Amino acid sequence: MSDNGNDTPHLPGPSLWPIAFAIGVALLLLGLVISWVVALLGAIVAVVFGLLWARDATGEVRGEVPAVEPEYRAPDAGAVEAAVPETLPAYTRSRFLEASLIGLSAGMGAVLTLPVLGFMVLPSFTNLDEDEVDLGPLDNFTKGEYVIATYLAHPSQGEVSRRTVFVRQNEPAENGDPSFTILYSRCVHLGCPVQPNGPIDEDSMQEIEGGVELRPVLAQSFGCPCHGGQYNAEGNRTAGPPVRSLDRYSFSIKNGNLVLGELFAVGNVDGTGANATISRYPWSVPGTHVDGVEAWLYPIVPSQVTG
Ligand code: FES
Repeated sequence: MSDNGNDTPHLPGPSLWPIAFAIGVALLLLGLVISWVVALLGAIVAVVFGLLWARDATGEVRGEVPAVEPEYRAPDAGAVEAAVPETLPAYTRSRFLEASLIGLSAGMGAVLTLPVLGFMVLPSFTNLDEDEVDLGPLDNFTKGEYVIATYLAHPSQGEVSRRTVFVRQNEPAENGDPSFTILYSRCVHLGCPVQPNGPIDEDSMQEIEGGVELRPVLAQSFGCPCHGGQYNAEGNRTAGPPVRSLDRYSFSIKNGNLVLGELFAVGNVDGTGANATISRYPWSVPGTHVDGVEAWLYPIVPSQVTG
């Protein structure tokens, strides 16, 4: 019984922390879809206000808010009922429920965000360990014609790591630098092997060091046998379901040899050869839009094997 004679329940003071915490979690989830910056901001807000909320909720237990010492009273039958409201326990039911809610929210947040985080982050780490591939002297590549080059991405793993790229030597750039177009053969719809639309000159096949095989081909376009995806000579999609242009490799010239560099995704290619303007993006698994409004609408990529 309180001083004024009314029963007054022990309620926690009003707090804005739970609301701010919820906003932080919402921002985090939204950020996982649209932007890492928003996700990071949401994570910071959620952590800061979650901690503040937890501190408030457990302050009484930790002794920051002195608990009311229970006053002993004789087991007077008439006074027992009146004494109960004045001997509130240090850890009330409302505090327990609040702490449980925080734990439950944190658990749900982890269950919701960790898989999404895994889907988004892991592909970035699964395509970076390809060994450097030397495709041999520049003379192996006739200007203006494609060569099918196959190589072992990981020689220690043997033939299972064999990959295929389509390599065309272009006219040199304006500054005189050599120019190559190197298309990765993996279809950017669902990953089937893309084929050149033209005859392969098997008689001119040459095998060079490191398990590299080179086959000239008369092809000015490429096609995917799985669902009919078609690409032109620059790798731009011309028909079918692929969602972007064929992936490309950067390259370097070392000791007069052509060496494959980084694999990257391509939105679109304007122009040809050394004069082409290439919309370049970090590599992403097949089926992923890298530009345009679709990249915003479908930003989360499925988990897949390496490129
Ligand atoms: S996998 Fe190439 S079109 Fe579907």
